[in-house]
Amino acid sequence: MKSTFNAQIPNTFAVSAKATQYVEYDSVSDLRQLIPALQGKRVLHIGGGSNLLFTTDFDGIVLHSRIQGIEQVETSAGSVLVRVGAGIRWDDFVAEALRRGWYGAENLSLIPGEVGASAVQNIGAYGIEAKDLIERVECIDLCTGEQRTFTNAECHYAYRSSVFKHELRGRYAVTHVLYRLSCTFEPHLDYGNLRTHLQGEVTADEVRNCIIKIRREKLPDPDVMGNAGSFFVNPVVDRAKFEMLQQTFPTMPFYEVQNGIKIPAGWLIEQCGWKGRKLGPAAVHDRQALVLVNLGGATGADILRLSDAVCADVKQKLDIDIHPEVNIF
Ligand code: EPU
Repeated sequence: MKSTFNAQIPNTFAVSAKATQYVEYDSVSDLRQLIPALQGKRVLHIGGGSNLLFTTDFDGIVLHSRIQGIEQVETSAGSVLVRVGAGIRWDDFVAEALRRGWYGAENLSLIPGEVGASAVQNIGAYGIEAKDLIERVECIDLCTGEQRTFTNAECHYAYRSSVFKHELRGRYAVTHVLYRLSCTFEPHLDYGNLRTHLQGEVTADEVRNCIIKIRREKLPDPDVMGNAGSFFVNPVVDRAKFEMLQQTFPTMPFYEVQNGIKIPAGWLIEQCGWKGRKLGPAAVHDRQALVLVNLGGATGADILRLSDAVCADVKQKLDIDIHPEVNIF
């Protein structure tokens, strides 16, 4: 366990923000020992810091898990149940799963962040979401120290959302995630233009490498330019609104979803002329308008100002509300 006072909080936007205390723990028992000291304090549990924007310092305790381990706990006909420590880097887990012949996570290659956050954010890409793989989530109650295991249904998963992000926000720390992976590879190539990159028979490694290549081309590397991946969630509009927009923009991309029609926020932002545009030291990325970047030295407030300006413009020009996916503090 490592505890530091007045410490910079790691975040991929590379904005300056300090926590009164920053604690990294290595095991469930370490975390349990911490529980009494958390009571009555503001507490924030972070993962890899890849979905956070700090507009101010955090007056409280920031926790980060370093729980490791990838353990096969059960094998049944054609699949394995794998228990993974919350502190493992998500992409290290995807790579290790493929090495061991466990399939299903390859479309989620190179998503930044850690295993614990995959279960909180319900990370997703190329037609697959973490919820499709998660069977159970093991947590510790940050008020009582009790252990609780959530089934997939109890996690109330939806697009980029879960019970841990909403109803039970801040109450539990994820310690391990149990994923059900397949022992046989079945490609999922229906999303977007994946098939144009991958033709004929493909292997899981080819899918992973292709997705890594696409992501590297479109998304900025946070080690080079601060960012948090998709800054906004893609809005869902009703059919009447969609049909109206489609008359003006016949080539507008869209996806039919359960509760309406999802329109890519990146596309909307680009129509409003924001792609590649700067506002002070923050900018809309020039290859993917869904991503906001820190050009160097931006504060969280600078990035929030840009986000507000983009949202206001999309509302004014296209009458659609878009909202940040990133957690703002
Ligand atoms: N588009 C534009 N201009 C842009 C960006 C996108 O016209 O600047 C259009 C594209 O041409 C395409 C459509 O919008 O027709 C969708 O774009 P893309 O396939 O890049 O995906 P997305 O909807 O923008 C979502 C996820 C990404 C994920 C990709 C691939 C959200 C908020 N984002 O983006 O997730 O990688 O699909 O599955 O759902 C992340 O969460 O950090 C992230 C990168």
